[in-house]
Amino acid sequence: MTDAEGPALREMRWWDIPGVLALEKELFPQDAWSEATYWAELAQAGGPGRRRLYLVAESDGTLVGYAGLGVAGDTGEVMTIGVTAGRQGAGLGARLLGALLGAAAGPFACREVLLEVRVDNRPARRLYQRFGFTRVGVRRGYYQPGNHDALVMRRELPAGGALANEATEGEAGTHG
Ligand SMILES: CC(C)(COP(=O)(O)OP(=O)(O)OC[C@H]1O[C@@H](n2cnc3c(N)ncnc32)[C@H](O)[C@@H]1OP(=O)(O)O)[C@@H](O)C(=O)NCCC(=O)NCCS
Repeated sequence: MTDAEGPALREMRWWDIPGVLALEKELFPQDAWSEATYWAELAQAGGPGRRRLYLVAESDGTLVGYAGLGVAGDTGEVMTIGVTAGRQGAGLGARLLGALLGAAAGPFACREVLLEVRVDNRPARRLYQRFGFTRVGVRRGYYQPGNHDALVMRRELPAGGALANEATEGEAGTHG
């Protein structure tokens, strides 16, 4: 379904896995997650003790983006985020990230969210900086093959889930 605001966001379900894997191969050709990994992740995305939230963005029945949040205690982690190449630069990544942060601050009651990003991934770093993530460290050789370093970035969240509107809009931050 498509509307004036762009592709619809909804929770990822098991039947989305083939479409997500196709995007995964397009966007992360060197280190795409496997089908088994997605099954294991989605197994943690339901029930009272849920520790994952995976979203997909769908346009006319086609998956065009996805993102996932993992939660351990009061720390969230952006597990993955991707938008198909033909849709990049149109704000969909921001909508996906905003939705993850809204859930982290709200239902999951996280106090911080962490992520790793390849140092040479300019579009992703810009997106994270706009949402207030700041660099807290470097993981040397984190991405294999290729031996690329990862920046570890962190964003604090306010207590009480007060993020919803702010996350939808993103931020004009200069962090990082
Ligand atoms: C990172 C990613 C999810 C962003 O999604 P998106 O829908 O393009 O995001 P947005 O449209 O909200 O824009 C994000 C920023 O990147 C910029 N951008 C998007 N595509 C770009 C491109 N090809 N080259 C340069 N900048 C780009 C946008 O202008 C925007 O910058 P701004 O915040 O200064 O305005 C997307 O680029 C992607 O899927 N990349 C491949 C997978 C990946 O690297 N995921 C992140 C792993 S850590």
